[in-house]
Amino acid sequence: MNAEDVISKYYDTGSRLYDVLVQHGKDVAGMAIDIANSLPDHSIDNDFIVEASMLHDIGIFLVDLPELDCHGNHPYICHGHLGRELLENMGLPKHGLVCERHVGIGITIDDIKTHQLPLPPRDMSPITIEEQIICYADKFFSKNKNGSSRKKSVQKILQELEKYGHDKALQFQSWIEMFNNTEVSDYNKLKFN
Ligand SMILES: [Fe+2]
Repeated sequence: MNAEDVISKYYDTGSRLYDVLVQHGKDVAGMAIDIANSLPDHSIDNDFIVEASMLHDIGIFLVDLPELDCHGNHPYICHGHLGRELLENMGLPKHGLVCERHVGIGITIDDIKTHQLPLPPRDMSPITIEEQIICYADKFFSKNKNGSSRKKSVQKILQELEKYGHDKALQFQSWIEMFNNTEVSDYNKLKFN
């Protein structure tokens, strides 16, 4: 399966949005593969990691995000489960689960109920190792409208996650340790507002 062929079914090749999406997918795929290769678990499916990294944000054209030329009707938070629907309909259910389970550090039913999120009431937490690696790597890269890549610091990511609850930042910290990120020791020096 060629991820860019799948993307081009929904995005005009050569459009700014296509370029932003593909660059972001490549950023995430590169980091995710580095992590996968650094782990002792040889059952990790590297081909799947690359494909799913490229496709994880395929639902963004359906949301309302004009700064990225997305003019859909849905709130941004819906891009995950909408992407899942697209990929399921193309016979790619495993890739679809990565779409649904990569938003934030995963969204629980409690999150959906407590914050009355406009999402189907089901657990959207990353479960498989591939889902977790891609969700983790995705947090390091924003989608820049000029298509440039800029890697966020661990500190910045943790500060952003703290806004959604300390448990979210702690979950990310556990991934830092799991994925053997050398910046882990910085976490304890961080101060949150
Ligand atoms: Fe992403």
